[in-house]
Amino acid sequence: FHVDWDVEAAEKEGYEHFMIKEIYEQPGGIDKTLNRRLNKEGTIVLDGIKLTKEDLDKINKIYIVACGTAYHAGLVGKVAIEKYAKIPVICDVASEFRYRDPFIDENTLFIAISQSGETLDTLAALREAKRKGARILSVVNVVGSSVARESDDVFYTWAGPEIAVASTKAYTTQLTAMYMIALHMGLTKGTLSRERYDEIVAELKTMPDKAQKILDNYQIIQQLADEQFNNESVFFMGRGLDVEVAFEGSLKLKEISYINSFAIAAGELKHGTIALIEDGTLVIALATQNHLYDKMLSNIKEVKARGAYVVAVAKEGNEEVEKTADKVIYIPDTMDELTPILSVIPLQLFAYYVSVARGNDVDKPRNLAKSVTVE
Ligand code: AGP
Repeated sequence: FHVDWDVEAAEKEGYEHFMIKEIYEQPGGIDKTLNRRLNKEGTIVLDGIKLTKEDLDKINKIYIVACGTAYHAGLVGKVAIEKYAKIPVICDVASEFRYRDPFIDENTLFIAISQSGETLDTLAALREAKRKGARILSVVNVVGSSVARESDDVFYTWAGPEIAVASTKAYTTQLTAMYMIALHMGLTKGTLSRERYDEIVAELKTMPDKAQKILDNYQIIQQLADEQFNNESVFFMGRGLDVEVAFEGSLKLKEISYINSFAIAAGELKHGTIALIEDGTLVIALATQNHLYDKMLSNIKEVKARGAYVVAVAKEGNEEVEKTADKVIYIPDTMDELTPILSVIPLQLFAYYVSVARGNDVDKPRNLAKSVTVE
Protein backbone atom coordinates (compact mmCIF):
# COMPACT_ATOMS: atom_id res chain seq x y z
CA PHE A 1 0.00 0.00 0.00
CA HIS A 2 1.09 3.58 -0.56
CA VAL A 3 1.08 5.98 2.37
CA ASP A 4 0.15 9.32 0.91
CA TRP A 5 2.33 11.37 3.22
CA ASP A 6 1.28 14.96 3.59
CA VAL A 7 4.73 16.12 4.64
CA GLU A 8 3.65 19.71 4.78
CA ALA A 9 0.80 18.88 7.18
CA ALA A 10 3.24 16.95 9.35
CA GLU A 11 5.70 19.85 9.34
CA LYS A 12 2.94 22.25 10.43
CA GLU A 13 2.67 20.24 13.65
CA GLY A 14 -1.11 20.65 13.74
CA TYR A 15 -1.19 24.36 12.95
CA GLU A 16 -3.30 25.39 9.96
CA HIS A 17 -0.45 27.40 8.39
CA PHE A 18 3.30 27.71 8.82
CA MET A 19 2.83 31.40 9.60
CA ILE A 20 0.69 30.85 12.71
CA LYS A 21 3.05 28.08 13.82
CA GLU A 22 5.99 30.46 13.49
CA ILE A 23 4.13 33.24 15.32
CA TYR A 24 3.68 30.82 18.22
CA GLU A 25 7.34 29.80 18.08
CA GLN A 26 8.43 33.34 18.95
CA PRO A 27 8.65 32.95 22.75
CA GLY A 28 10.94 29.95 22.22
CA GLY A 29 13.01 31.72 19.56
CA ILE A 30 13.54 34.80 21.72
CA ASP A 31 14.41 32.60 24.69
CA LYS A 32 17.00 30.56 22.75
CA THR A 33 18.56 33.56 20.99
CA LEU A 34 19.02 35.32 24.35
CA ASN A 35 19.51 32.78 27.07
CA ARG A 36 21.99 30.52 25.28
CA ARG A 37 24.32 33.50 25.08
CA LEU A 38 24.22 34.48 28.75
CA ASN A 39 26.99 33.22 31.03
CA LYS A 40 26.47 32.51 34.71
CA GLU A 41 27.12 36.17 35.60
CA GLY A 42 24.29 37.14 33.26
CA THR A 43 26.71 38.65 30.77
CA ILE A 44 26.00 38.38 27.05
CA VAL A 45 28.66 36.25 25.35
CA LEU A 46 28.54 36.95 21.62
CA ASP A 47 30.04 33.76 20.23
CA GLY A 48 31.26 34.37 16.70
CA ILE A 49 31.67 38.11 17.22
CA LYS A 50 35.13 39.46 18.02
CA LEU A 51 34.29 43.15 18.67
CA THR A 52 36.81 44.18 21.33
CA LYS A 53 36.96 47.62 23.00
CA GLU A 54 39.84 48.52 20.66
CA ASP A 55 37.74 47.50 17.65
CA LEU A 56 34.74 49.45 18.90
CA ASP A 57 36.70 52.60 19.79
CA LYS A 58 37.89 52.69 16.16
CA ILE A 59 34.33 52.57 14.81
CA ASN A 60 32.85 56.02 14.30
CA LYS A 61 29.86 55.05 12.14
CA ILE A 62 27.61 52.03 11.71
CA TYR A 63 25.47 51.14 8.71
CA ILE A 64 22.59 48.72 9.16
CA VAL A 65 21.47 47.48 5.75
CA ALA A 66 18.69 45.00 4.89
CA CYS A 67 15.42 44.54 3.03
CA GLY A 68 11.76 44.31 4.05
CA THR A 69 11.14 42.99 7.53
CA ALA A 70 14.87 42.67 8.21
CA TYR A 71 15.19 46.38 7.42
CA HIS A 72 12.43 47.11 9.93
CA ALA A 73 14.40 45.18 12.54
CA GLY A 74 17.38 47.34 11.61
CA LEU A 75 15.40 50.50 12.33
CA VAL A 76 14.89 49.30 15.91
CA GLY A 77 18.52 48.19 16.11
CA LYS A 78 19.62 51.70 15.16
CA VAL A 79 17.75 53.18 18.13
CA ALA A 80 19.21 50.58 20.51
CA ILE A 81 22.82 50.98 19.33
CA GLU A 82 22.67 54.79 19.42
CA LYS A 83 21.07 54.68 22.88
CA TYR A 84 23.44 52.17 24.48
CA ALA A 85 26.70 52.46 22.49
CA LYS A 86 26.50 56.14 21.45
CA ILE A 87 27.72 55.40 17.92
CA PRO A 88 25.84 57.09 15.04
CA VAL A 89 23.91 54.57 12.92
CA ILE A 90 22.65 54.94 9.35
CA CYS A 91 19.90 52.51 8.44
CA ASP A 92 19.21 51.88 4.75
CA VAL A 93 17.41 49.49 2.45
CA ALA A 94 19.96 47.42 0.56
CA SER A 95 18.52 48.22 -2.88
CA GLU A 96 19.16 51.95 -2.27
CA PHE A 97 22.39 51.69 -0.29
CA ARG A 98 24.22 50.15 -3.25
CA TYR A 99 23.67 53.21 -5.45
CA ARG A 100 24.22 55.97 -2.91
CA ASP A 101 28.05 55.90 -2.88
CA PRO A 102 27.88 55.55 0.94
CA PHE A 103 30.45 56.94 3.42
CA ILE A 104 32.31 53.73 4.15
CA ASP A 105 35.88 53.25 5.32
CA GLU A 106 37.89 51.10 7.77
CA ASN A 107 36.24 52.97 10.67
CA THR A 108 32.80 51.80 9.56
CA LEU A 109 30.95 48.77 10.88
CA PHE A 110 28.47 47.36 8.36
CA ILE A 111 25.65 45.25 9.84
CA ALA A 112 23.66 43.12 7.39
CA ILE A 113 20.40 41.61 8.65
CA SER A 114 18.93 38.76 6.63
CA GLN A 115 16.75 35.80 7.63
CA SER A 116 17.67 33.74 4.56
CA GLY A 117 21.17 35.13 4.15
CA GLU A 118 20.58 34.92 0.36
CA THR A 119 18.81 38.20 -0.47
CA LEU A 120 20.71 39.48 -3.48
CA ASP A 121 20.43 43.19 -2.70
CA THR A 122 21.68 42.65 0.84
CA LEU A 123 24.54 40.45 -0.36
CA ALA A 124 25.54 43.00 -3.00
CA ALA A 125 25.44 45.79 -0.41
CA LEU A 126 27.65 43.73 1.90
CA ARG A 127 30.18 43.18 -0.89
CA GLU A 128 30.20 46.91 -1.68
CA ALA A 129 30.84 47.77 1.98
CA LYS A 130 33.58 45.15 2.23
CA ARG A 131 35.24 46.49 -0.93
CA LYS A 132 35.36 49.93 0.75
CA GLY A 133 37.07 48.52 3.83
CA ALA A 134 34.20 48.17 6.33
CA ARG A 135 34.09 45.51 9.03
CA ILE A 136 31.14 43.19 8.27
CA LEU A 137 28.82 41.84 10.99
CA SER A 138 25.71 39.95 9.92
CA VAL A 139 22.57 38.83 11.77
CA VAL A 140 21.35 35.72 9.94
CA ASN A 141 18.92 32.88 10.57
CA VAL A 142 20.25 30.32 8.06
CA VAL A 143 23.59 28.81 9.09
CA GLY A 144 26.22 28.82 6.36
CA SER A 145 24.21 31.09 4.03
CA SER A 146 26.00 33.44 1.62
CA VAL A 147 25.66 36.55 3.82
CA ALA A 148 27.00 34.61 6.82
CA ARG A 149 29.92 33.17 4.86
CA GLU A 150 31.01 36.56 3.57
CA SER A 151 30.90 38.33 6.96
CA ASP A 152 33.75 38.88 9.41
CA ASP A 153 31.39 38.14 12.31
CA VAL A 154 27.99 36.43 12.38
CA PHE A 155 25.24 36.54 14.99
CA TYR A 156 22.90 33.62 14.31
CA THR A 157 19.28 34.04 15.33
CA TRP A 158 18.10 30.65 16.51
CA ALA A 159 14.53 31.03 15.29
CA GLY A 160 14.59 27.70 13.48
CA PRO A 161 13.53 27.33 9.82
CA GLU A 162 11.06 30.02 8.77
CA ILE A 163 8.84 28.64 5.99
CA ALA A 164 6.02 31.21 5.67
CA VAL A 165 6.86 34.00 3.23
CA ALA A 166 5.76 36.58 5.80
CA SER A 167 8.54 36.83 8.34
CA THR A 168 7.55 36.74 12.03
CA LYS A 169 9.84 34.78 14.35
CA ALA A 170 12.87 35.87 12.35
CA TYR A 171 11.90 39.51 13.01
CA THR A 172 11.53 39.16 16.78
CA THR A 173 14.76 37.18 17.07
CA GLN A 174 16.49 39.80 14.89
CA LEU A 175 15.25 42.44 17.37
CA THR A 176 16.61 40.34 20.24
CA ALA A 177 19.94 40.05 18.42
CA MET A 178 20.14 43.81 17.84
CA TYR A 179 19.42 44.58 21.49
CA MET A 180 22.13 42.10 22.53
CA ILE A 181 24.67 43.56 20.12
CA ALA A 182 23.83 47.09 21.30
CA LEU A 183 24.12 46.05 24.95
CA HIS A 184 27.45 44.30 24.29
CA MET A 185 28.80 47.39 22.55
CA GLY A 186 27.59 49.74 25.30
CA LEU A 187 29.06 47.67 28.11
CA THR A 188 32.36 47.12 26.24
CA LYS A 189 32.73 50.81 25.39
CA GLY A 190 31.67 51.88 28.88
CA THR A 191 28.81 54.04 27.53
CA LEU A 192 26.31 51.81 29.40
CA SER A 193 26.66 51.17 33.15
CA ARG A 194 26.74 47.57 34.33
CA GLU A 195 23.76 48.34 36.55
CA ARG A 196 21.60 49.57 33.63
CA TYR A 197 22.93 46.71 31.47
CA ASP A 198 21.78 44.17 34.05
CA GLU A 199 18.34 45.82 34.31
CA ILE A 200 17.84 45.63 30.54
CA VAL A 201 19.08 42.02 30.29
CA ALA A 202 16.74 41.08 33.15
CA GLU A 203 13.83 42.72 31.29
CA LEU A 204 14.79 40.95 28.04
CA LYS A 205 14.59 37.65 29.93
CA THR A 206 10.91 38.34 30.68
CA MET A 207 10.10 38.74 26.99
CA PRO A 208 9.28 35.08 26.18
CA ASP A 209 6.65 34.95 28.94
CA LYS A 210 5.25 38.37 28.02
CA ALA A 211 5.06 37.37 24.36
CA GLN A 212 3.28 34.16 25.34
CA LYS A 213 0.73 36.18 27.30
CA ILE A 214 -0.19 38.11 24.15
CA LEU A 215 -0.50 34.88 22.17
CA ASP A 216 -2.78 33.44 24.86
CA ASN A 217 -5.19 36.33 24.20
CA TYR A 218 -5.28 35.80 20.42
CA GLN A 219 -9.10 35.69 20.32
CA ILE A 220 -9.34 39.48 20.79
CA ILE A 221 -7.33 39.95 17.62
CA GLN A 222 -9.02 37.16 15.72
CA GLN A 223 -12.39 38.79 16.47
CA LEU A 224 -11.06 42.20 15.37
CA ALA A 225 -9.84 40.67 12.11
CA ASP A 226 -13.23 39.04 11.53
CA GLU A 227 -14.83 42.49 11.89
CA GLN A 228 -12.23 44.41 9.88
CA PHE A 229 -11.07 42.12 7.05
CA ASN A 230 -12.98 44.01 4.37
CA ASN A 231 -11.30 47.41 4.63
CA GLU A 232 -10.08 49.04 1.42
CA SER A 233 -7.11 50.51 3.24
CA VAL A 234 -5.61 50.43 6.72
CA PHE A 235 -3.35 53.05 8.32
CA PHE A 236 -0.73 52.31 10.95
CA MET A 237 0.67 55.17 13.02
CA GLY A 238 2.88 55.71 16.02
CA ARG A 239 5.61 57.85 17.52
CA GLY A 240 9.17 56.99 18.40
CA LEU A 241 9.85 53.26 18.22
CA ASP A 242 6.16 52.68 17.51
CA VAL A 243 6.78 54.12 14.03
CA GLU A 244 9.29 51.37 13.25
CA VAL A 245 6.82 48.72 14.42
CA ALA A 246 4.02 50.40 12.46
CA PHE A 247 6.10 49.89 9.30
CA GLU A 248 6.43 46.19 10.09
CA GLY A 249 2.73 45.79 10.93
CA SER A 250 1.77 47.48 7.69
CA LEU A 251 4.09 45.27 5.62
CA LYS A 252 2.67 42.11 7.25
CA LEU A 253 -0.87 43.16 6.41
CA LYS A 254 -0.04 44.18 2.81
CA GLU A 255 1.87 41.07 1.86
CA ILE A 256 -0.63 38.46 3.03
CA SER A 257 -4.04 40.20 2.95
CA TYR A 258 -3.40 42.34 -0.19
CA ILE A 259 -5.13 45.27 1.55
CA ASN A 260 -3.50 48.61 0.76
CA SER A 261 -1.86 49.85 3.93
CA PHE A 262 0.79 52.22 5.04
CA ALA A 263 2.51 53.45 8.17
CA ILE A 264 3.27 57.01 9.23
CA ALA A 265 4.84 58.91 12.06
CA ALA A 266 1.71 60.28 13.77
CA GLY A 267 3.26 63.75 13.92
CA GLU A 268 3.13 63.74 10.12
CA LEU A 269 -0.67 63.56 9.98
CA LYS A 270 -1.02 67.35 9.67
CA HIS A 271 1.54 67.42 6.84
CA GLY A 272 -0.83 65.75 4.38
CA THR A 273 -1.92 62.28 5.39
CA ILE A 274 -4.91 63.38 7.44
CA ALA A 275 -6.57 64.37 4.15
CA LEU A 276 -7.04 60.65 3.55
CA ILE A 277 -8.87 59.92 6.79
CA GLU A 278 -12.61 59.64 6.28
CA ASP A 279 -15.62 58.06 7.92
CA GLY A 280 -14.83 54.47 8.90
CA THR A 281 -11.14 54.52 7.94
CA LEU A 282 -9.37 51.88 10.03
CA VAL A 283 -6.39 53.32 11.91
CA ILE A 284 -4.12 51.09 14.01
CA ALA A 285 -2.52 53.46 16.52
CA LEU A 286 0.51 52.22 18.44
CA ALA A 287 0.68 54.10 21.75
CA THR A 288 3.25 52.16 23.78
CA GLN A 289 5.95 54.81 24.26
CA ASN A 290 5.27 56.34 27.68
CA HIS A 291 7.17 59.54 26.92
CA LEU A 292 5.02 60.12 23.80
CA TYR A 293 1.71 58.74 25.10
CA ASP A 294 -0.10 62.07 25.53
CA LYS A 295 0.87 63.19 22.03
CA MET A 296 -0.41 59.90 20.63
CA LEU A 297 -3.70 60.41 22.47
CA SER A 298 -4.13 63.74 20.69
CA ASN A 299 -3.27 62.16 17.34
CA ILE A 300 -5.93 59.53 18.00
CA LYS A 301 -8.43 62.31 18.78
CA GLU A 302 -7.44 64.02 15.49
CA VAL A 303 -8.27 61.00 13.34
CA LYS A 304 -11.34 60.15 15.42
CA ALA A 305 -12.66 63.65 14.74
CA ARG A 306 -12.55 62.79 11.03
CA GLY A 307 -14.48 59.56 11.44
CA ALA A 308 -11.67 57.03 11.78
CA TYR A 309 -12.20 53.71 13.55
CA VAL A 310 -9.19 53.50 15.85
CA VAL A 311 -7.66 50.35 17.28
CA ALA A 312 -4.94 51.27 19.75
CA VAL A 313 -2.07 49.10 20.99
CA ALA A 314 -1.07 50.20 24.49
CA LYS A 315 0.75 48.95 27.56
CA GLU A 316 -1.26 47.38 30.36
CA GLY A 317 -2.17 50.09 32.85
CA ASN A 318 -2.36 52.95 30.32
CA GLU A 319 -6.16 52.96 30.24
CA GLU A 320 -6.59 56.64 29.36
CA VAL A 321 -6.57 55.60 25.70
CA GLU A 322 -9.87 53.72 26.18
CA LYS A 323 -11.66 57.06 26.37
CA THR A 324 -10.60 57.86 22.79
CA ALA A 325 -9.92 54.69 20.82
CA ASP A 326 -12.72 52.40 19.67
CA LYS A 327 -10.74 49.32 20.73
CA VAL A 328 -7.57 48.82 22.75
CA ILE A 329 -5.24 45.84 22.52
CA TYR A 330 -3.06 45.73 25.62
CA ILE A 331 0.45 44.32 25.78
CA PRO A 332 2.36 43.59 28.99
CA ASP A 333 4.28 46.53 30.44
CA THR A 334 8.00 46.79 29.63
CA MET A 335 10.71 49.39 28.98
CA ASP A 336 9.89 51.74 26.11
CA GLU A 337 12.95 50.71 24.11
CA LEU A 338 12.12 46.97 24.34
CA THR A 339 8.44 47.32 23.41
CA PRO A 340 8.82 46.39 19.71
CA ILE A 341 9.40 42.73 20.61
CA LEU A 342 5.88 42.67 22.07
CA SER A 343 3.91 45.31 20.13
CA VAL A 344 4.57 43.59 16.80
CA ILE A 345 2.81 40.37 17.89
CA PRO A 346 -0.78 41.69 17.82
CA LEU A 347 -0.01 43.15 14.37
CA GLN A 348 1.30 39.79 13.11
CA LEU A 349 -1.82 38.05 14.43
CA PHE A 350 -4.07 40.72 12.89
CA ALA A 351 -2.48 40.32 9.46
CA TYR A 352 -2.70 36.54 9.75
CA TYR A 353 -6.40 36.41 10.68
CA VAL A 354 -7.35 39.03 8.09
CA SER A 355 -5.58 36.99 5.42
CA VAL A 356 -7.38 33.82 6.56
CA ALA A 357 -10.73 35.67 6.58
CA ARG A 358 -10.07 36.78 3.00
CA GLY A 359 -9.32 33.23 1.92
CA ASN A 360 -5.77 34.01 0.81
CA ASP A 361 -2.84 31.59 0.60
CA VAL A 362 -1.33 32.82 3.86
CA ASP A 363 2.00 30.98 3.63
CA LYS A 364 2.54 31.61 -0.08
CA PRO A 365 1.02 35.03 -0.90
CA ARG A 366 0.73 35.98 -4.58
CA ASN A 367 3.78 37.40 -6.40
CA LEU A 368 6.11 36.81 -3.43
CA ALA A 369 9.08 34.52 -2.79
CA LYS A 370 10.56 33.63 0.59
CA SER A 371 14.00 34.78 -0.43
CA VAL A 372 14.48 37.44 -3.10
CA THR A 373 17.60 36.21 -4.84
CA VAL A 374 17.04 38.43 -7.87
CA GLU A 375 17.33 42.21 -8.23
C1 AGP B 1 8.90 39.93 5.10
O1 AGP B 1 7.72 39.38 5.63
C2 AGP B 1 9.10 39.56 3.64
N1 AGP B 1 9.06 38.15 3.44
C3 AGP B 1 10.33 40.20 3.03
O2 AGP B 1 10.19 41.60 3.15
C4 AGP B 1 11.68 39.82 3.69
O3 AGP B 1 11.77 40.34 4.98
C5 AGP B 1 12.82 40.41 2.84
O4 AGP B 1 12.74 39.85 1.54
C6 AGP B 1 14.21 40.15 3.43
O5 AGP B 1 14.47 38.77 3.45
P1 AGP B 1 15.78 38.24 4.25
O6 AGP B 1 15.58 38.61 5.68
O7 AGP B 1 15.80 36.77 4.00
O8 AGP B 1 16.97 38.95 3.66
